[in-house]
Amino acid sequence: MNTILVGAQWGDEGKGKIIDVLTEQADIVVRTQGGNNAGHTVYLGPKKYVLHLIPSGILRPGKVCVIGNGVVIDPIGLVAEIDGLEKLGVAVSPDNLRLSETAHVVFPWHRELDAQREVRKGQGKIGTTKRGIGPTYGDKAARVGLRVIDLLNGARFPDRLRERLSENNEVLKALGAAPIDYDSLLRDYTTAANRLRPYVANTVLYLHESTRRGANILFEGAQGTFLDIDHGTYPYVTSSNTTSGGACTGSGVPPNRMDRVVGVMKAYTTRVGEGPLPSENAVISDLLHGLGREFGATTGRARRCGWFDAVVTRHACMVNGLDELAITNIDGLDTVTTIRVCIGYRLDDQILHHVPADIEVFSRCEAVYEEFPGWLTPTHTLSRWEDLPVNCRHYLLSIAQLTGARLTVASVGPAREQTLFV
Ligand code: IMP
Repeated sequence: MNTILVGAQWGDEGKGKIIDVLTEQADIVVRTQGGNNAGHTVYLGPKKYVLHLIPSGILRPGKVCVIGNGVVIDPIGLVAEIDGLEKLGVAVSPDNLRLSETAHVVFPWHRELDAQREVRKGQGKIGTTKRGIGPTYGDKAARVGLRVIDLLNGARFPDRLRERLSENNEVLKALGAAPIDYDSLLRDYTTAANRLRPYVANTVLYLHESTRRGANILFEGAQGTFLDIDHGTYPYVTSSNTTSGGACTGSGVPPNRMDRVVGVMKAYTTRVGEGPLPSENAVISDLLHGLGREFGATTGRARRCGWFDAVVTRHACMVNGLDELAITNIDGLDTVTTIRVCIGYRLDDQILHHVPADIEVFSRCEAVYEEFPGWLTPTHTLSRWEDLPVNCRHYLLSIAQLTGARLTVASVGPAREQTLFV
């Protein structure tokens, strides 16, 4: 059984935890897009792990994790992540981690360009994670990127690096930023390359051979549907395909080898960075931030919060082909008397039931709500679906129905035990 898992909103849906739960039934877990802009938080007993590039399957003995061709890799960040896991007692070796030889590499000029472009955009900034993701995918599309296979080639890499750096240093100088030193860059990247060499593989062949052997593969999405470069709220998006199709192109496993698509969504809506969010609401934001929730795992930024938006999740259901839904962070709404759900957008004198493509039009949309009675009972201690308060079950089944897929998992807290199967 091959499963694609995606975020149905703007990222941070709690995918890390659901991936961890689904990993139990998987032999291989694959990341297929994005880079270390992602941050998956997983709690194991008292320990908290934040993973950026390595699939969270690494925490489970016997599972193989793959970083696929669609991912962009900061090699120094990846080495630091491997070292960090080992310090926490998690064994990482070529037996349980494989890195695609054709994944593109993030360089410091990508990060610097990311930061410079944001500064220049001023008010219109995207609010990126400044990890160089956009410029790295930009180089990939412009066919001037360097891949892992280039990084490992000691005969070729120094010249390719010099060539790319000299062009980018010109750009950095023109933008008033400091140029990057070649010698230290070559040294640092060569050191990282030597550390990563044993992990590098032809992951496309590996995944196909594993499929033939009957392995179960979980394709873990990073970010969320509305950060997708094609289907998201462009230009306030990331630079990869975060929707289910990205799992195929980012791994080399074709659509007819996929068995199901699971969408993860919060019981409310959050977004980090700029861009429209019609159901944004100060009361729910203050409530969640007051509980110490909704601060980003990668940048620590406070996330913007709002009511559940069923217009966006219905769109997510359509473009991802969602079969099943996992709803997370249900306990965040435990103290809310009346819960609102956005079911349409008011635009001048019309009511829209779809997400408008034009960002200026979307920015003018006002949410139209339906109200649901809250359950006003703590849910974080409950471990069975049947034990959830009636109003809570009604709310969850209603938002699943509005979205258009079958609810299979309800999550009432960060721990594995706080997962209820419907
Ligand atoms: P970038 O991916 O760093 O270029 O950022 C582009 C947009 O995607 C910004 O709004 C970021 O806040 C958002 N973003 C990127 N990665 C994540 C993530 O893992 N969770 C939530 N938002 C993200």
